Amino acid sequence: MIEFRPETRRVRTTESDPVDGWPDKPKPGRGEVLIRVHAAGVNPADFLAEDGKKSCIVKTKYPHGRGLCISGIVVAKGANVATHDLGNAVFGHVPKVGLDTCAAFVSAPAAQVREMPANTGFREAAGLPLIGSVVIQAFERAGLRAGDHVLIHEGGGAVGSFAIQYAKFLGATVFTTTSTENADWVRGLGADNVLDYQLVDYRDIVHDLDIVLDTLGGDATFSAFDVIRPGGAVISLFGPVDDKAARRLGLNPLVRQVLWFKARDLRRKAREKDARYRFVPMMPETRHLATLKELVEAGKVKPVVDATSFAPSSATDALAYQEKGRAKGTIVVDFAG
Ligand SMILES: NC(=O)c1ccc[n+]([C@@H]2O[C@H](COP(=O)([O-])OP(=O)(O)OC[C@H]3O[C@@H](n4cnc5c(N)ncnc54)[C@H](OP(=O)(O)O)[C@@H]3O)[C@@H](O)[C@H]2O)c1
Repeated sequence: MIEFRPETRRVRTTESDPVDGWPDKPKPGRGEVLIRVHAAGVNPADFLAEDGKKSCIVKTKYPHGRGLCISGIVVAKGANVATHDLGNAVFGHVPKVGLDTCAAFVSAPAAQVREMPANTGFREAAGLPLIGSVVIQAFERAGLRAGDHVLIHEGGGAVGSFAIQYAKFLGATVFTTTSTENADWVRGLGADNVLDYQLVDYRDIVHDLDIVLDTLGGDATFSAFDVIRPGGAVISLFGPVDDKAARRLGLNPLVRQVLWFKARDLRRKAREKDARYRFVPMMPETRHLATLKELVEAGKVKPVVDATSFAPSSATDALAYQEKGRAKGTIVVDFAG
């Protein structure tokens, strides 16, 4: 088990730093800003990294903290940072190898944080960067166009609740799977057709879809090809890694070869349907943070944050909660303002 130390991250010298009261906070490096964290988003990547599951694609340096997303206030700037004023409220990512946003202070590359949407609180903003970015990237990869019929799995989750709203904004007709408990709620987010997985098997109901956003992996990735039209697209956030994604992730040729072999049945399935399959790993891009800010400020999407509040000292509980897979929106750890 990795010890959680909310007060430290990449600790260097701090004596001359103007932010008071924290003897061992990090010092921003070249091109970095130091952020006083107000909220940190927790995602499945956190427990996957901890378990070593998906270790070939979630590259992690040990020991590590938790969290990939943050919102907070810029309190210091490293050399070569022309953007961001001290005191600005920002949201964004830290590099994946970091997994370290559950900390009172975080040093992040200036290019990976943006001014927060003016109409959100810190909790909502912390839930946005990873989830919003991966959904934008998934639908870009799918080539989603207005009028498309899209199936989004896990409509009540962090990804699903954002994806429903974004797909509607893009003009799609949205089908989503969820439990009875969340059915009305996801309808309220904009889903046109709710498939209650406790009552029905979506494979008996939907067919000829243009796109499936698969968040479940396993059998669901394969079943997606049974419900799309010929020429449609299956975009997975949890299924086998295709070679294009493996290259984007910078995986070495041997790992790529293994992944390519493991995905052979899926390729066959895609070929049979003349369909496209893509695994989409979230890659931090500032332009997507800018898009998220615009979308939220324009009221086109609303960040959905699970109502359970976690203090920094119970970040481990946040992970356990995440692993149960019952969260409604993104899970956030709250830091003192
Ligand atoms: N590739 C990437 O970069 C990337 C980035 C982010 C996430 N992901 C992946 O995307 C997936 C979703 O992430 P997330 O953060 O949205 O997860 P999450 O918030 O933990 O998802 C929880 C939700 O899933 C629903 N759910 C559970 N089983 C279901 C089922 N059989 N059918 C439909 N809904 C079901 C639950 O709703 P009920 O309570 O109603 O069942 C709950 O609302 C994860 O596998 C994650 O690893 C990948």
